[in-house]
Amino acid sequence: MKMPPSLHSFPRSFFFCCFLLLSLFLLLLLLVPPSSSSSSSGAPNDKVTVSLYYESLCPYCADFIVNHLVRLFQTDLISIVNLRLVPWGNAWIAPNASIICQHGEDECFLNTIEACTITIYPDMMQHFRFVECLERLSLEGRHRQWMNCFQMTGLGTSPIDCYTSGNGKTIDLRYAKETSELKPLHRFVPWVVVNNQALQEDYRNFVTYICRAYKGQVIPSACRSSSLSARTYDESNEKVNNSFIPVCYADEARNLTIHFGNKIKQ
Ligand SMILES: *[C@@H]1O[C@H](CO)[C@@H](O)[C@H](O)[C@H]1NC(C)=O
Ligand SMILES: *[C@@H]1O[C@H](CO)[C@@H](O)[C@H](O)[C@H]1NC(C)=O
Ligand SMILES: *[C@@H]1O[C@H](CO)[C@@H](O)[C@H](O)[C@H]1NC(C)=O
Repeated sequence: MKMPPSLHSFPRSFFFCCFLLLSLFLLLLLLVPPSSSSSSSGAPNDKVTVSLYYESLCPYCADFIVNHLVRLFQTDLISIVNLRLVPWGNAWIAPNASIICQHGEDECFLNTIEACTITIYPDMMQHFRFVECLERLSLEGRHRQWMNCFQMTGLGTSPIDCYTSGNGKTIDLRYAKETSELKPLHRFVPWVVVNNQALQEDYRNFVTYICRAYKGQVIPSACRSSSLSARTYDESNEKVNNSFIPVCYADEARNLTIHFGNKIKQ
């Protein structure tokens, strides 16, 4: 004997619906974190702001980003840090309003591409990966392959439109203004500022400063490790003692200009 099709399918679809609802409910349980877990990473107000003033083709900036700053993401430090990348560095504005960069036009172009990427992808993890990729190419003398970094990081290419539309220049000028208003003024790049404290020559010791500046409850393990407590500020003395400090000085570039500062500050 045959059942009418409608009767036959009813219990099945009913069961399917129940199953679907149940799975949705379970999924929601998984996605909505229990309220207690919000305390496991630093509360937003406790976060330490780390600003890096740099330019795309200064080899010491590239080295710092690729071999040092990346530690933020390789440890749990990033949970207490608000990282700000400011790709302007020692660039300046000529009297005719064109931007001049220490390492030439490629640097101006890549500063803007990075500025656009940072703005379009405000998520630290996303834009850092891109900047890291580009700076690694720069270290390897292959910065002209910068386009590959979109593919390698899975980001879209809208930062290129941002450059061509001229929006990138607007972003550049914001970064220029911020850089020119630093107190104290940056003397070189990479220039690292941790919660308003300029680390100056000691910039590679940034982890120590971050851990010191952090006033939150939950101490990241990167701030507890024995390797950190073994570090001291003597590292800076060592550098001052060495006559060579791995930085790109602002003076070398600024000497070529007269109008930097006045132009943007007004
Ligand atoms: C603007 O001035 C700079 C530096 O003086 C010069 O190199 C550049 O060619 C000028 N650009 C234009 C469009 O005049
Ligand atoms: C500084 O350099 C001198 C000579 O190279 C050396 O004798 C001295 O130990 C160094 N001081 C420090 C603090 O590294
Ligand atoms: C900048 O210019 C001044 C005066 O022309 C000169 O004495 C100084 O050595 C220059 N600085 C650099 C870093 O080239």
